[in-house]
Amino acid sequence: MGNIFDEAARTWDEKPSRVENAQKVGEAILKFLPVSKEWRTLEIGAGTGLLTLYLQPHLCEIVAVDSSKGMVEVLREKVGKLGVKNVKPLLMDAERELPPGEFNLIVLHMTLHHVKDVPSLFERLRELLSSGGFLAIGDLLKEDGTFHRDNTGVYHFGFSKEELFGYFKEAGLEPYLFELVHSIERNGREYPIFLAVAKTPG
Ligand SMILES: C[S@@+](CC[C@H](N)C(=O)[O-])C[C@H]1O[C@@H](n2cnc3c(N)ncnc32)[C@H](O)[C@@H]1O
Repeated sequence: MGNIFDEAARTWDEKPSRVENAQKVGEAILKFLPVSKEWRTLEIGAGTGLLTLYLQPHLCEIVAVDSSKGMVEVLREKVGKLGVKNVKPLLMDAERELPPGEFNLIVLHMTLHHVKDVPSLFERLRELLSSGGFLAIGDLLKEDGTFHRDNTGVYHFGFSKEELFGYFKEAGLEPYLFELVHSIERNGREYPIFLAVAKTPG
């Protein structure tokens, strides 16, 4: 898994659609959630930090986990250059382990379709969420497998609202929101992007 992204890391930010997509999902998170400077946040599959760096001025701290060494290196360099103090890049495979602590917000942006066992991840993420905490997923709406040129490491061709809300409920999370927030043009067609949010009870 790591290798595909290791190779892509250095040029990841050169594709404007990736930057724009992260920004649209970030805007929606700020619009729909009561984001606070007190919030401790975890991003899983943070990549080069497109969403992390967009959100960081509005949050207390972001632990930015990624399983690709190349991605984590690029994010470390960006954080250093920008002098950002509240972003902690961390090399970690979230399907094997998760960082310690409690988080008010956990985000995944274009990462969930690379996660093999979604129910198991959600169950472990719920344990890290504080009472009233949010899990926010930005990803592709159900597609026909044509979005990626190569589907290696792609375990889901997007998600439907029903499917995702089913996973939330299975993990003991309350579905909170599902909005289409953007769409990526590729192959002469549109691939809609959603923001789905769940909340911990309490
Ligand atoms: C499509 S990229 C998205 C990166 C970033 N969120 C963005 O929008 O630019 C998916 C990212 O998830 C990471 N990833 C995939 N599976 C992971 C896992 N099990 N644990 C941590 N990171 C993972 C990949 O290394 C990659 O950086």
